[in-house]
Amino acid sequence: MKIQKFKKRIGLIGFGCVGQGLYDVVEANRHLGWEIGSICVKDKEKPRSLPASAFTYDVQEVLQDPSLDIIAELISDPKEALVIIRQALQQGKTVVSANKKVVAENLPELIQLQQRHGGVLLYEASVCGSIPVLRTLEAYYGSEPLVEVRGILNGSSNYILSKLHAEHGNFQSALAQAQELGFAEADPSLDVEGTDALHKLCIMAAHAYGLLVHPDEVLHFGIQHITSEAVELADALGCRIKLVGSLKAAADGEVALQLLPTFIPEGDALYEVEAEFNGLEIEGRFAGKQFLKGRGAGSHPTGSAVWADVAAAVRGYRYTYPKLCTSQVSATSGDEQLTVLLQGTEERVAELLELLKPAIQHQTPDQSQVILSLTPQQLRQHQDLLNQRGIFVAAIPASVPLDIIPEAFSQTEAIPIGSL
Ligand code: HSE
Repeated sequence: MKIQKFKKRIGLIGFGCVGQGLYDVVEANRHLGWEIGSICVKDKEKPRSLPASAFTYDVQEVLQDPSLDIIAELISDPKEALVIIRQALQQGKTVVSANKKVVAENLPELIQLQQRHGGVLLYEASVCGSIPVLRTLEAYYGSEPLVEVRGILNGSSNYILSKLHAEHGNFQSALAQAQELGFAEADPSLDVEGTDALHKLCIMAAHAYGLLVHPDEVLHFGIQHITSEAVELADALGCRIKLVGSLKAAADGEVALQLLPTFIPEGDALYEVEAEFNGLEIEGRFAGKQFLKGRGAGSHPTGSAVWADVAAAVRGYRYTYPKLCTSQVSATSGDEQLTVLLQGTEERVAELLELLKPAIQHQTPDQSQVILSLTPQQLRQHQDLLNQRGIFVAAIPASVPLDIIPEAFSQTEAIPIGSL
């Protein structure tokens, strides 16, 4: 068989952490016949690893260049990214993006643009960095009903939580390290407030269940209000706190979506997912459980995911959204009763307890800790209020017996860790 040689050119828009990652991966693979044909950046003054002559500052030079086979959109500004992706798809081009906010918030339109103009959009790098999540859900599980998909979807928050547990470190310095290592978003509140993981969860919902849901509709909490008391309590219970997103098939064609800091006991596959790693457990009705783990953030791991999309797209791969074509599903927060820890200053927690009835209460000199049971809908109703009051919220799974919690509370000896 004669193998056809080809030379393919990539138009790169954005040369930050992920753009540089893609560049390095492509350079290391030049023998495969790829090259970066053009690089567009915005800021002329920013110091970069390549000479100024390597860049253009006019995005139309990339978007209008017929010699380019594919556009890699890797900028952080979601508004500009959407304009770029729209224009490229309207021209029927093939585009690869890592921008989870853009994809999560605009997926119906982006699918329609592909159908109308014949272009292609791939975005594997937008979910869990280097882990081939979307390809697995789409191509392998496209016909299998899924019981549940749950996982750690944000590397920066997982890095911070790992530091808090392992070293009882300071929140701010752990976040600063995640930024220095290139894991965090340009606006790191997206990482710690759970928004980034929420975007990934909504993207996965389309591929895993055929559900198009806007992130604003989903129950979610971040780790920005975490306290040392919560970390100590988790330690005393033999757990680690992880920010866990889950999608679960519920009754009547509904899919339950939640993103919550969660006490994860030892023995759970997510317990060992540390630092910037992400982990995803997929449970198929017939296949049973599978677990995927890998680097969820960072220049080269994410650049590698973009590169995988670039190579696949040029060979003709595109998402077919198999479940979107066959399923009629709607979103819910779920109806399984949740046990949650609420933690905050005494005065603020006391205000909330007029609305929510506690099962267990514990008081330290400056923090109130409360365990209570409620439905996801009730938690969602109070989501904005809890966030405004600076309350840390974490789910405690049924596998952690409630009767050991009072004893665990008494073992906690809090050291201030700071918060966002
Ligand atoms: N800021 C993101 C994270 C980058 O920490 O997971 C990868 O999506």
